[in-house]
Amino acid sequence: MAEIHAAAFLRDRSWNAAEIADLLTSPFVTALHDAGGFALTRLVAGETELLTIAVDPAHQNQGIGRRLLHKWLTCGADTAFLEVAADNAPAIALYESLGFHQTSRRPRYYARKDGAFIDALILSKDLTRGKSVDSGP
Ligand SMILES: CC(C)(COP(=O)(O)OP(=O)(O)OC[C@H]1O[C@@H](n2cnc3c(N)ncnc32)[C@H](O)[C@@H]1OP(=O)(O)O)[C@@H](O)C(=O)NCCC(=O)NCCS
Repeated sequence: MAEIHAAAFLRDRSWNAAEIADLLTSPFVTALHDAGGFALTRLVAGETELLTIAVDPAHQNQGIGRRLLHKWLTCGADTAFLEVAADNAPAIALYESLGFHQTSRRPRYYARKDGAFIDALILSKDLTRGKSVDSGP
């Protein structure tokens, strides 16, 4: 996962194997895998967060990211949210196509390797629509 992360996030500091292993010690964190890609997600009290998603550049634009996100969105949460760099057009297009919308913006949130600071957009999606409300017999 660390290798894929480093290959996918060329402009940012990537997450090393120890950091990823540490996250995975949490009972709230799940790793989702697909050929050449993975996502780390956290589910707490009905709210799920996409901690990261990365697809190896050699496998990008083949539907892997979308499949990973579909898996994530069926985890049973009521709300999903994520942070994305404001200049990450491919990722934003993918999230918007899945029904995410911007709920806030954090100015100068990401520090790039080249010294630039980029705003973070917080996107969220209500997952309760379509959930059956089964109050039992
Ligand atoms: C964002 C990322 C995970 C998407 O994974 P992917 O497997 O390439 O995505 P998919 O093939 O499932 O593409 C789904 C959509 O993403 C968008 N997309 C993917 N690559 C794109 C590109 N080069 N330019 C514009 N849009 C693009 C399109 O909206 C595409 O929709 P389509 O299926 O209708 O064509 C991947 O590009 C990646 O790892 N990027 C680097 C790391 C990163 O930015 N992670 C997200 C941080 S929040």
